Formats: sequence, structure tokens, C-alpha cells
Amino acid sequence: MQTIAKLDPLRSTVTALRTDGRIALVPTMGALHEGHLTLVREARKHAAHVVVSIFVNPRQFSANEDLDAYPRQLEQDCALLEKEGVSLVWAPTGAAMYPQGYATNISVSGVSEGLCGGDRPGHFDGVATVVCKLFHQVLPDLAFFGEKDWQQLAVIRRMARDLDLTRPFADAIVGVQTVREPDGLAMSSRNAYLSSQERAQAATLPRAMKAAIGEIEAGKDIAASLGTLEQSLITGGFASVDYAELRDADTLAPLQTLDSQPARLLVAARIGKARLIDNMRVCGKNH
Ligand code: PAF
Repeated sequence: MQTIAKLDPLRSTVTALRTDGRIALVPTMGALHEGHLTLVREARKHAAHVVVSIFVNPRQFSANEDLDAYPRQLEQDCALLEKEGVSLVWAPTGAAMYPQGYATNISVSGVSEGLCGGDRPGHFDGVATVVCKLFHQVLPDLAFFGEKDWQQLAVIRRMARDLDLTRPFADAIVGVQTVREPDGLAMSSRNAYLSSQERAQAATLPRAMKAAIGEIEAGKDIAASLGTLEQSLITGGFASVDYAELRDADTLAPLQTLDSQPARLLVAARIGKARLIDNMRVCGKNH
């Protein structure tokens, strides 16, 4: 496994790897956990070589989010990736990614707005911009993202369609199912911020979401079910709920009724020092 920090060697190495077959990209910001490794394992099933990018992208942090405190553990991450059979780690320096005078921003309207985009202004512009650059740098045949960040996945899919970024494979952007702890809590680096009591309470989130989905699928009023969900989170130990919404799974348009379209329940809620997000599929009449 090679670790590369500059663009020219990256390009020549990827060109050489491509002679063996398809290249899969797994973009990350490092501090890897089981969720990331699941993406890598999935990517390996579909490509001759897996490239993992590790870059803590300053453009997706807003002024009040602590970029400097974000965990950086390149050596430890590389050791994990080597064991997973990754061919190449692309770990660009800040200057390699955003050289002096860098001035371009990618903004995907619609899907970026509301939900986490409402709470974190500019966040999805930063994500879209860096992912677009990563696609151009690595030229992957496939790219793997966790479904845990459903809105991010929707933004990246929209951008890839709009900017013709995907290569000739229908499923060039692959969403991988969220990996969960035995009690149902979605795996996240943010779970580490929880005390043991908060960690136990956090399992209310997937439980309450499943209960709301059961009600919505059974035809109960959507607003009432979402209200019950929010109440269960507060009773279960969450300090506040940023949002709990039913949305169209692709466009993320808000849904007042559950018709035939694929729908998604998306929630962000705060407990202790953590803001946890989760999302689950909700089946319409034909799903
Ligand atoms: O999901 C992440 O880790 C980041 O948002 C991504 C996609 C690597 C872009 O920086």
C-alpha cells in the first residue's frame, strides 16, 4: 500500500493501477472506524484497486465548528487500511488540495438546503467542492459513501449527475448501508463524545425512529408520529431535536403524505456533547 500526498505521483500511480481493472474511491476525513472499513470492504468487492482518500476538509467546517480539534491519526488509519487490502491512500496536504489563490466553490441547490444544511451553512458546498476535486484527482470508476450521511449522499449524487462526473457505470456512486451497534445506534466517530449513561440513552434514537416508521407505514398522521418521535427522544435523555422529518429519498423534498415514492425519515438530535444524525427508509405503498 502506498501513501501519497502530492497530485503528480497520485496521477501516475492511479494510471498504473488502472491497467489491472476498475478503481474504487472511498473518500474519508480519517479517524477511521468500522463504518469506514465496511465501505472499504464493499469497495473491494467491486474493483481491482481501492483508493482511500484521507483529508480533513476545512471548507466543510463552519466558523463555530472546531476544525483543529478534529482527530488526525494518519499512521493508525494507514495501518488499518493496509490490513483491508487498500492499494493506495491519497492523503493530500492542504496546499495540494487548495493551492494559494484557490477560488472555486460548488454549490448544489435544493438537496443541500434544510436538514443538516440548515444547521451547518456552507457545509455541503464544502463537501461538494472537495468530492468533485477528489473525483477529478483519482478518476474513480466507482465511489463509496455511507448511507448514514444520507443528505451528503443525495448532494453528491445530484452533483455527479449535474456535472457529468460519473464514468460509464450506472452505479458509479454507491451508497453503503449504515453499520449499527448491537443496540441499533448508528456507528459514528461522534459516539465517542458520549458518557456511558448518554451512550445507553442514545439507543433511544433508532428505537424511536423505528416506532415512528411503523406508525407512518400503518397510515398514522405523519406530523403526529414525528411529534411522538421527538417527545420520545427528549424523554429518553436527548437535550434537543434539530429536526425529525419525512423526505423524498432522492430529492429530499418534504413529504406530507406517504405515497408511492421512496421516502426517508431523517433525524438530528443532541445528547451530551454530541449531535447525532440517523436516517431510515420508509416504505410507500409500492415498496
Ligand atoms: O463523509 C465524510 O467523511 C466527508 O464529508 C467527505 C465525503 C470525505 C468529504 O470530505
